[in-house]
Amino acid sequence: MCNLKDHLKKAREAKIAIGHFNISNVETLWAIFDAARALGQPVIIGVSEGERNFIGVRQAASLVQSLRNEFDYPIFINADHTHDFEGVKKAIDLGFDSVMIDGSQLLFDENVALTKKCVAYAKDVKKKEGRTVLVEAELGYIGTSSTVLDTIPDGAGADMTPPDVAGRFVEMTGVDLFAPSVGNIHGIVTSGNPHIDVKRVKDIAETADCHLVLHGGSGIGDEDIRGGIRAGISVVHVNTEVRVAFREGLEKGLKEDATVAPYKYMDKARKSVYDLVYKKIQLFANFS
Ligand code: G3H
Ligand code: ZN
Repeated sequence: MCNLKDHLKKAREAKIAIGHFNISNVETLWAIFDAARALGQPVIIGVSEGERNFIGVRQAASLVQSLRNEFDYPIFINADHTHDFEGVKKAIDLGFDSVMIDGSQLLFDENVALTKKCVAYAKDVKKKEGRTVLVEAELGYIGTSSTVLDTIPDGAGADMTPPDVAGRFVEMTGVDLFAPSVGNIHGIVTSGNPHIDVKRVKDIAETADCHLVLHGGSGIGDEDIRGGIRAGISVVHVNTEVRVAFREGLEKGLKEDATVAPYKYMDKARKSVYDLVYKKIQLFANFS
């Protein structure tokens, strides 16, 4: 079966993006997997430090691998927003397909040094075990919370990533994936999410020799997402909207059914996430 690297290459050639959706539980995982399978698209499951500590780091990896193996399906797992080398090493050792080292709040040189250390470790694993683990890094602060916000957090998105700096960062670190600040913000901003600077995405795609990732996919309008993908985005991260869909579905399930059986009231949450992810994948894969 093709690995994540192969699927990213195919996505870029087709000018579409692969959806990356975060999970905190197995119900959400099934909903995402079912939606991706219904549309025949590869999918990436993201687990941030908090999410994977809740599920269990090894267990998160095993769950995704079990779906991949049983259904012979391109579903991958990413150690999203990892803040130190130890976390990256653990995820790589446990079989994650990709790791995201988040040094976005460090000074440029510190971010470069930490990212390089992670890339070197992934390369070492490739040499010793033949396993490909992709490394992603972020440059430019876009906030930290996948939640519903009244306003944009202080400083988030204030300094968008300059294309020449992006090119230099990617060359210095050798990352496979790069997450810039291009108008994207983590979370849904109720007073209005900013727009994507599509021209900047295009310029970064021309200077940075790797795949581009759009974080903070929640709350961004469909046209902006389409423009970003056309300009060179290969992966779109969505978390807050998944969390909102899960919660709304769960509340519905609890309200409409007095059952105490989790597999009954949680089914509404699963359906709600499925519907959301189905629409997002259609958008990212450019289904008309
Ligand atoms: O890494 C996760 C994403 O960037 C999620 O952002 O919560 O705005 O969808 P979001
Ligand atoms: Zn993110």
